[in-house]
Amino acid sequence: MKGWRFTIVVYLIGGYAVVSLPTMADPVEEGAYLTAAAGCKACHTLKGGIAFAGGRPLKTPFGIFYSPNITPDVQTGIGGWTGDEFLAALKRGISPQGEHYFPAFPYTSYTGITDKDGLKIFAYLKSLPPVQQDNKDHDVGAPFSWRWLQWGWKLLYFAEGQGPLTSEGTDRGQYLVDALGHCGECHTPRNAFGGPEKERYLAGSADGGEGELVSNITPDVETGIGDWSKSDLADFLKTAMKPDFDNVQGSMEEVIEHGTSRLSKEDREAMADYLLSIAPIYHQVSRGKK
Ligand code: HEC
Ligand code: HEC
Repeated sequence: MKGWRFTIVVYLIGGYAVVSLPTMADPVEEGAYLTAAAGCKACHTLKGGIAFAGGRPLKTPFGIFYSPNITPDVQTGIGGWTGDEFLAALKRGISPQGEHYFPAFPYTSYTGITDKDGLKIFAYLKSLPPVQQDNKDHDVGAPFSWRWLQWGWKLLYFAEGQGPLTSEGTDRGQYLVDALGHCGECHTPRNAFGGPEKERYLAGSADGGEGELVSNITPDVETGIGDWSKSDLADFLKTAMKPDFDNVQGSMEEVIEHGTSRLSKEDREAMADYLLSIAPIYHQVSRGKK
């Protein structure tokens, strides 16, 4: 009823104002929110550098990847890209030249992002000031540096349109965790070829980026977060403080700072609900063990 009355009032004030009703929020603003949820900034910004201009080294077991410039500079960024090219990169790992991206770019999770949301992210990135900064070559040894080999990797480990890390069924929490938040990219262990071990979805990994130990975040009581309450988890995603008052370390701190702390309370609670509902997996993460 309220919405109906509002429509009428706006209509009386000026016919065309109807198109900007609150249900149709500004795509750039929505895109900014989704970009935070997806954590694009953390990877695409060099520490102390200009936001989204790339150049950040990302250490992996295969070598060092450098994130590219995703500001709308036409020469060195994505200023000349179309929406379709952007979606192909984000959701299928394919460049405008038809080459395959390395999965250090988590398109494997982003493939679960809806086209609509993907285009909002694009709209937000296009609204940023263009920064002219050339991309740096990756420092990765053969055969992992062979771009053409990536199609084989994709064949094995990439399922388009559905995060390979997810189970079936979708809700807002799962969408935020699996597709946008790409939590599994760090929290699911990988095999020797960098493919996610589906049967240990979110059960933690001993070789996260920068050699980090990444916690088991399945609700297993002994080795995971089974003894966290929903509010423990939702609060943690805002404050980076664990229920035992320890502050989180390393890359998770950035995930929270640039990502989950900027989301709405409802979205953080949806993530907590989802995480506490998945199958608990017993998996002790420790050095020297996968
Ligand atoms: C975990 C780190 C990481 C995150 C998070 C990440 N990216 Fe990237 N991205 C990369 C890397 C590394 C590459 C380069 C891949 C390659 O060269 O094959 C890349 C490549 C790209 C490209 C291709 C650019 C070009 O010049 O070809 C685009 C576009 C892009 N990312 C957009 C995004 C967006 C949008 C997000 C958030 C939704 C995002 N990235 C999140 C690491 C990341
Ligand atoms: C870039 C890698 C990375 C990504 C992406 C990531 N995490 Fe983490 N996460 C970590 C690391 C590393 C730790 C361990 C930090 C520590 O020991 O202080 C961690 C710890 C945690 C913890 C604490 C668990 C415990 O028992 O102490 C929770 C909860 C968590 N992450 C949830 C998430 C969620 C939810 C997402 C997706 C929004 C996510 N993480 C995405 C790297 C990541």
